[in-house]
Amino acid sequence: MQILFINGSPKGDISFTNQYINYISKNFSHIRIKKIDLSKKYRLLENTQSDFKKTLVNQIKESDGIVWAFPVYFFSVPAQYKFFIEYLIKDRELLSLLKAKYTTYILTSMNVGDNLAADYMRHLMYRLEMKFYEGISFHMFDMLTEQRSLISKFFTRFISVIEKDLIKQTPSPNIFYQEKPEFKIDLKSNNAGKKNKTFKYILVSSNSCDDSNLKSIIRAFISSSKYEIVEINLDKSIIFPCKGHINCVYNEDCLIKDCYQDVFSNEILSSDVIVFATSIVADHIHYRMKMFMDRIMPVAHHPVFHDKHFVGILSGKTRHVQYINQFFQLFSEQLFLKQPTGLITTDGRDNNDIEAQINWVHDELKCHLQNSFHRLQTFLGKATHKMVRDELYNIRFLFKSSHNFYKKHKLYDFPQKDTGARFRRYLFSLIFLVPFLRKRVMRNITKFMIKPFSKHTGI
Ligand SMILES: Cc1cc2nc3c(=O)[nH]c(=O)nc-3n(C[C@H](O)[C@H](O)[C@H](O)COP(=O)(O)O)c2cc1C
Repeated sequence: MQILFINGSPKGDISFTNQYINYISKNFSHIRIKKIDLSKKYRLLENTQSDFKKTLVNQIKESDGIVWAFPVYFFSVPAQYKFFIEYLIKDRELLSLLKAKYTTYILTSMNVGDNLAADYMRHLMYRLEMKFYEGISFHMFDMLTEQRSLISKFFTRFISVIEKDLIKQTPSPNIFYQEKPEFKIDLKSNNAGKKNKTFKYILVSSNSCDDSNLKSIIRAFISSSKYEIVEINLDKSIIFPCKGHINCVYNEDCLIKDCYQDVFSNEILSSDVIVFATSIVADHIHYRMKMFMDRIMPVAHHPVFHDKHFVGILSGKTRHVQYINQFFQLFSEQLFLKQPTGLITTDGRDNNDIEAQINWVHDELKCHLQNSFHRLQTFLGKATHKMVRDELYNIRFLFKSSHNFYKKHKLYDFPQKDTGARFRRYLFSLIFLVPFLRKRVMRNITKFMIKPFSKHTGI
């Protein structure tokens, strides 16, 4: 039996993900384990005659199962892996080789948004009509704990599923392919003259080459805005992908030198509204948009955009999957500390719908900006804050920049630091030890809990 691991970590051999592959290689010596380090070579695929393409084709052909192994970068796959997926979806030879082959995924992360990355993989495997065995998500340090035993158990089961040919069906691919409508959006600007400069809008766009809809939505969004909007077109900017070396987390200094730093410091950080406008390709955001997002890494662990508002414009099919909306929700809730002000989507919409969405988002933004209003974080943002806070506290010597931000903005809000709450907990623990008092409190517990509200409600 031969299993091919497609490693998507930009760090290749020295990646955490690769350690999980090495562990499996060591413990399953009776199985031929092959590995392709994709992130370093993905660009070679642009030459269809390249040796890399030939190796990829041969290894897929010879393998009984494919394992997608990758680190979670911003709740999804790294941009380089996304490039590969976009390539794959268009390559008939690779598609036919993968069809009906057994597959699974192994991902490593800090478990923030790993469910969304897993959802994407699951969806993609179905789309590729592969025989998909549910994968597994490891915290990057799980191998150093008793969870390590799950690596072998998982892989043993995967092998046995292949040997016994236990998966008989793959879902119908028809649901994935539908004609894309062409929109003709004609929003006349009420502010054709001078634009207001009170608030600064930045629109970062990433357009897969044939997406005329995105272009016309962006044009309409910009022309109908009361405020001036600066567009940063990623298709025309040279920005390199994150290589995952995380030197940047100490002092926000990225080792890659390109125009990203300029755009980030001079445009993004000084804006009031950030709009990400992207084509949806291969069922997720375009790889250039992902590249831009991955580069936010130096400041990704703290809510660097807490004083800004976020809007997403998504051109393409999004209704058949949950994870794309959640991806933007989580992005906004983690980095902006609030829900997105709006998500403009094209899937299932007509011209009128889109124009209405654009007008609505402009109006909503005006309200949010002028009244300092926003919708609060939900589970996504609040749970993420607690996870990141705890991780950060443990590795604060490395993540110095985020650590300083956390101290400055009092984000180390561990419950044990709240002395008032500690005193109340102590008091109530004592009260609950006395049966008579405990009964009394329990009898009135609901009334008791809303008592402090009367000061504000007047009731
Ligand atoms: C650009 C970047 C983005 C990341 N985004 C996430 C994330 O969204 N959620 C998470 O849990 N970990 C995130 N991480 C942490 C990695 O997923 C984690 O460290 C992973 O194990 C690295 O694997 P590797 O060494 O194989 O590349 C991110 C790391 C980088 C460099």
